[in-house]
Amino acid sequence: MKLSAALLLLSQLAVSQATSGRLKEPSSNNNVSNQRTRYAKASKTGKSGKEERDYFNRVSNFFICSQIGASCTEDDATSAEIVAASEDGMTLIYTDAEKGGVGSVDITDYANPKGTGFIPTSGEPTSVAIRGKYAVVVENTSQDYVNVSGQLHVFRLSPMTLMHTIQLDGQPDSVAWSKDGKYIVVAIENERDEDLGDGGLPQMPPGFVVVLDASDADPSKWTRTDVDVTGLPGVRFPEDPEPEYVSINKDNIAVVTLQENNAMVLIDLKTKTVVNSISAGEVTLTNVDVVEEGVIRQNVSITKYREPDGVAWADNKHFIIANEGDWVGGGRGFTIFHKDGTIVYEANDDLEHITAAVGHYPENRSENKGNEPENVAVGMLDGKPAAFIVSERSSVIFVYDISDVTEPKFIQVLPAGLSPEGVTFIASRNLVVAACEVDDRGIAARAVISIYKTKKSELPSYPTITSLWSQSDIAAPIAWGALSGLSFGSEEHKLYSIEDSFYSSSRIFKIDTKNHPAIIEKTITIMDMNGVLDAAYPGVFGNADKTVNLDQEGITLDSKGYLWVASEGSGTAASGTPNILVKVDSTGVIHKVVPLPDDIAAKQLKWGLEGVTFVDDGSESGALIACLQRPWSGMDHPLILAYSIGSESWDGYLQYPLDAVESPNGGWIGLSDISFYNGMAYIIERDNQGGPDARVKKVYKFNPFDSAYTWQGEVINKELVYDMMPKLEEVSQGLTPEKVEGLAVNDKGMFIMNDNDGVDDYNGATYLEFIPWL
Ligand SMILES: *[C@@H]1O[C@H](CO)[C@@H](O)[C@H](O)[C@H]1NC(C)=O
Ligand SMILES: *[C@@H]1O[C@H](CO)[C@@H](O)[C@H](O)[C@H]1NC(C)=O
Ligand SMILES: *[C@@H]1O[C@H](CO)[C@@H](O)[C@H](O)[C@H]1NC(C)=O
Ligand SMILES: *[C@@H]1O[C@H](CO)[C@@H](O)[C@H](O)[C@H]1NC(C)=O
Ligand SMILES: *[C@@H]1O[C@H](CO)[C@@H](O)[C@H](O)[C@H]1NC(C)=O
Repeated sequence: MKLSAALLLLSQLAVSQATSGRLKEPSSNNNVSNQRTRYAKASKTGKSGKEERDYFNRVSNFFICSQIGASCTEDDATSAEIVAASEDGMTLIYTDAEKGGVGSVDITDYANPKGTGFIPTSGEPTSVAIRGKYAVVVENTSQDYVNVSGQLHVFRLSPMTLMHTIQLDGQPDSVAWSKDGKYIVVAIENERDEDLGDGGLPQMPPGFVVVLDASDADPSKWTRTDVDVTGLPGVRFPEDPEPEYVSINKDNIAVVTLQENNAMVLIDLKTKTVVNSISAGEVTLTNVDVVEEGVIRQNVSITKYREPDGVAWADNKHFIIANEGDWVGGGRGFTIFHKDGTIVYEANDDLEHITAAVGHYPENRSENKGNEPENVAVGMLDGKPAAFIVSERSSVIFVYDISDVTEPKFIQVLPAGLSPEGVTFIASRNLVVAACEVDDRGIAARAVISIYKTKKSELPSYPTITSLWSQSDIAAPIAWGALSGLSFGSEEHKLYSIEDSFYSSSRIFKIDTKNHPAIIEKTITIMDMNGVLDAAYPGVFGNADKTVNLDQEGITLDSKGYLWVASEGSGTAASGTPNILVKVDSTGVIHKVVPLPDDIAAKQLKWGLEGVTFVDDGSESGALIACLQRPWSGMDHPLILAYSIGSESWDGYLQYPLDAVESPNGGWIGLSDISFYNGMAYIIERDNQGGPDARVKKVYKFNPFDSAYTWQGEVINKELVYDMMPKLEEVSQGLTPEKVEGLAVNDKGMFIMNDNDGVDDYNGATYLEFIPWL
């Protein structure tokens, strides 16, 4: 790498002053008015609202695996599906169908929840409810779908002691306990066999609803009444109702969803009679995505049965259903009904649009049910009734102010673990708790119970990025995900980012970071207008409409205003696609394609180009430095390569010595993004593990102009700049993201960011964090 002696001296001097290598924690850069006005655009129902109000923030995640071993280094799958809290709000009980039992958690200190034990049960627990000193747990003990059975266990709390068991004679899916403690209601689903025929209804035996009279302090004196819910109007297959979920209001009216039947029934618990049955009806979703082609295009109108799963009373007259759509439906939102059957509010495509705006839209579920709202709880926020709707596929909780049930106001979106199922509001302590069920160490996902709390005058820390309403003809926000690299733009506060090959029509994003959350304000679609890429690699990267399908992993802006994108190859030199640098102008048109030097490209394995950064080396056009993620065939270390823009030639390479840290889960360590600032190259070194298995997430630096390097393969000296682990653990409450793939450094500090994998096998959280220099 050639550069003038004067520049070398200058850059080295500047480095020693500006980058002492120590960084301080970011200061809060929240701006309420900005937050409200921008973010509200994600939802058509959002009103700008008042500026000062309370919000929820996640305060901790309880890892279910910690009940087995504190370090969570066991492979045993656990789960948390439904969670309930004791009346004093200090104890949580959750169902773990994976291990077959129930666990308890002490949340006296909600920021530091402690596992207090696991009790195995004989079958598969499906739900739990708590009143006073008892927890009731229902479980499925069925042999199969035809010979059905179930039980309700009564446990005394602290310590959990089994007091009594009641036979249910069917497969229970949900349980609720009335506020006055008098009644317990169990939805006996007797679920269909999805593999029998086409999984369609009817399938005998039919489900029913159990009402227990629980007035007596002694559970052995409780009496059971079965309520027949067959043959009711408004139900698609009245002979096979399939009761799913239940909620009880203050008048002791239970609302029970019949998901596959697209209906709800109301039962008066005093008389144990059905007082109404209501069809959930169909919803015409205005602008949603129904095609899984690797592009989020929310411009299709579809009509679907709502097929509600979870339900909760909003007040004594209205209830909210979460329109999951387990069978042929998929309402993708929520609906509020009056108990007389009138719809007072329909969210339509709002939840789909909010998930798109905050990077949580699951493109891979477009042909199914999109974000899949699974459950709902009602509580309070800022002194007003609020609804908390959990999205199973987007792994978020939507928070709405429902003081006017005919016009709920979207307030915020909360991050969760992978696949939240159960949600509950703890009135005595103003906490929201969600049980997130997926537990698979192989994909860095662990089941957690996420806990959220409001604090006076604390703004939402999540999301860290949202987007503006789309400027194209699509009536939806700019949808984004899988952000895999960062670069500063020419304007202050502006970043460029890119999406990786999860999406098939590669775009560059312009992000305004002035306020929190940062705003994706513009997309630039990369176009091979002049056939430059297709001429170099016919049919490899191009789409028919001249868009391209790159695996973008790095981006940088050069001194002439061109953007350079590093596209990672797939597979080996013999069978994969190549690693290339692509030069595009500010409108996205490709001007040039640069393959790696032949001798290096010949050694290609997986894990190729991960970052690229522009370097002012004193030449007229400057240079680029790019990095490979891991060592290729026959190499000891990953390579750092230099490319001269002016002479259009590769200028040699260095080798980067990776940390040697043992991964508890057999993971590897490699490089991610690279960013040049003030004479130094900053680089991310990370392992491929997340959550409790993450060990290495670091930013190192080296001096590319060091006279000891002739760029003929020397091994560099690296210096630790910042250990990202504490910060990432803090912002994610222990759900440390695996793929920290964005880095941009300037005179104020550095931005770091993770890739959310397009919300596929990951909870979808994107953390864009600014770490200022000390
Ligand atoms: C917050 O953002 C708004 C809108 O962009 C702006 O008018 C206001 O000056 C900002 N306030 C602060 C304190 O930065
Ligand atoms: C639960 O019920 C299903 C059928 O509804 C059955 O196939 C399954 O084996 C049951 N699980 C347990 C643990 O009893
Ligand atoms: C039905 O299941 C119960 C246990 O759940 C078992 O005892 C019984 O033998 C089964 N009956 C048939 C006919 O398989
Ligand atoms: C979607 O899911 C499939 C199967 O899990 C996976 O192979 C694919 O890469 C995913 N992504 C997209 C964009 O389809
Ligand atoms: C949705 O948008 C895409 C791309 O802009 C277009 O090809 C398609 O025809 C649109 N579909 C509808 C139903 O408008």
